[in-house]
Amino acid sequence: MHIPDIIIAIDGYSSTGKSSFARLIADEFDFLYLDSGALYRGVTLYAMENGMISPDKEIDVPALETAMETLDLHFAGSGSHSVTYMGERCVEKDIRTLAVSGLVSPIAAVPQVRAYVDRRLRELGSRKRVVLDGRDIGTTVFPDAELKIFMVADLDVRAMRRASEMQSKGENVSFDEVMKNLEERDYIDSHRKASPLAKAEDAIVLDNSRMTLQDQMEWIRKIISERFNPSTSAKSC
Ligand code: DC
Repeated sequence: MHIPDIIIAIDGYSSTGKSSFARLIADEFDFLYLDSGALYRGVTLYAMENGMISPDKEIDVPALETAMETLDLHFAGSGSHSVTYMGERCVEKDIRTLAVSGLVSPIAAVPQVRAYVDRRLRELGSRKRVVLDGRDIGTTVFPDAELKIFMVADLDVRAMRRASEMQSKGENVSFDEVMKNLEERDYIDSHRKASPLAKAEDAIVLDNSRMTLQDQMEWIRKIISERFNPSTSAKSC
């Protein structure tokens, strides 16, 4: 299916499957996938490893702000196969641990961190033909994105998916821990002052609690063909 040079913005709650969906979209339409959460996770990992977060989660914002002037977080690889790098180091695995997940929401609430990530995303997304996922892509980072999707799913479904994903990667986590982490992140993400998680007015809601990835792909193909390729969606009579 032909699809013009557009930006696809996918926002929504943690563990609604945004990145799996965005990666499949990137593959199908030959778009570049940008994982904004990975950049917040990268900043969090950097802050943790450099003693910028105290045990009671106090963040040394001035030190972090200085470090971000030269912090080189980027993606390498193409299409959906992009992985996250900090300078020369591949941090794709290190940024997905429960330790990072437990600290990423307070880091993502720091306005200077949001400014850093927004700048990186706009640089990387300026070429169009990108699909991005996050919490504020359609509201703040790319408010003019041509297609905006807001993903939701029941909390227990999200916790179950996330726990099995982490367990399959060898992380020793319980369903209850994951559920608690998700609840905390939902609260912080949607109540923070700077760019809280919110549905853009023109976003289409996708509740995938009872949908497979294939169901979701069928759903988006239909939307894309109706919006951007009406000739292929016209029914013959
Ligand atoms: O999508 P994720 O779970 O990898 O995101 C990690 C955290 O980053 C999440 O708790 C909220 C934050 N985030 C954000 O505030 N804004 C974004 N655009 C993307 C992620």
